[in-house]
Amino acid sequence: MSFLPQTLIRKKRDGVPLSEAELRFFIAGVTDESISAYQVSAMLMAIYFRGLSDSELATWADAMLHSGDVLDLSQIKRPKVDKHSTGGVGDKISLPLAPAVAACGVAVPMVSGRGLGHTGGTLDKLESIPGFSVNLDISTFTRLVDTLGLCLIGQTGEIAPADKRLYALRDVTATVESIPLIASSIMSKKLAEGIDALVLDCKVGDGAFMKDIEQARKLALAIQVIGRAAGKPVTAVLTDMNAPIGKMIGNALEVAESIEVLHGGGPEDTRELTVVLGGEMLQAAGVASSAEDGQRRIEQVLDNGAAAQCFARLIEAQGGDPAVVERADKVLPKAKSVEDIVSTRAGKVCSIAAQDVGVASLWLGAGRRRAEDGVDPAVGIELCVRVGDTVEVGTPLARLHHNDKGVAEARELAGTAFAIGETATRPTTRVLEVLR
Ligand code: URA
Repeated sequence: MSFLPQTLIRKKRDGVPLSEAELRFFIAGVTDESISAYQVSAMLMAIYFRGLSDSELATWADAMLHSGDVLDLSQIKRPKVDKHSTGGVGDKISLPLAPAVAACGVAVPMVSGRGLGHTGGTLDKLESIPGFSVNLDISTFTRLVDTLGLCLIGQTGEIAPADKRLYALRDVTATVESIPLIASSIMSKKLAEGIDALVLDCKVGDGAFMKDIEQARKLALAIQVIGRAAGKPVTAVLTDMNAPIGKMIGNALEVAESIEVLHGGGPEDTRELTVVLGGEMLQAAGVASSAEDGQRRIEQVLDNGAAAQCFARLIEAQGGDPAVVERADKVLPKAKSVEDIVSTRAGKVCSIAAQDVGVASLWLGAGRRRAEDGVDPAVGIELCVRVGDTVEVGTPLARLHHNDKGVAEARELAGTAFAIGETATRPTTRVLEVLR
């Protein structure tokens, strides 16, 4: 069936619901570029203001998903569950989480992204392990998910090409910040992985896309609407992203910290997020009787070495040096220099602005400003204090690991990221809410 794009734009502009045929026609025109960029942009703005009803949203996302390749992992008998994070600073959780969940008998087919802006990307972190390749073909990916229970790669082939065009236009037409557009963008790519269920880590706070909990809840609910319509249940965990996660921000530094978690240690919040998200994944997969049961199983494989062994097998299978799991300090690249940033006040650490720390590490070269930029795997920022700690004048707050690039900018930003005051309370948990 054929329609005039301007008729559909006018309907959406005036709040008239679009039919399934109209929505599918529009996404087909986005994909094959038969609808012009200015008409797509006008529709995006109409959606920005009018939103999409639940049924419109489910159809829009399904049409985006089927605009490109969809993996078929049906020959893998184990349940297949993935986690998606909306992006945070120091968010290395996929690294300890995927092997821990796989060690509990669930397959994790993880197609990840690269970092852009102030948040890091799982692929960049993995590539800091010498030899590790994220560019595997689909048959190798499927074989590793089947035999090892996990594989972590970048996008292959043409996954959701409609999203590529929509995202590029949203970026330049002030329509990125729309809940239905964000939800459909995320889900069109995640559902293409051939998963049975998804756990969403929806970040809330200074370092996140969603600055407040109401917005985060709305995004989580929109994603659940799309998942339900596709028959793929989504559990949403809303987590605090005000301070950076863990102590390390930067690619190799975050791999080293993830390995600590895989050996049963690591910072409390990093372990907590791994255990909570892993517990939800095991419950969603049906291998745990409850999220609490799932959490206990994840704790077990972190503490008994099974998750670390699984990570070593994955690294070896993807061409990396598995010795990193036992000797991270010897195997991972190191920056040439370190420089401490010290406190100029005595008092309590009231907050650590995640966004500033993320941008500071980007200046050092750990992240990229444009998609085509490279990253320096060795550089980044190590936090020496946590919110709630007491500091004196001269106490180190952060350590810059650098290779002489962007140091002045990083020093200034990281220096102002720490608010020192009279009183401070350390949050007891990162987990704000779970929506099942
Ligand atoms: N991540 C995505 O993949 N798409 C968005 O629109 C926002 C975040």
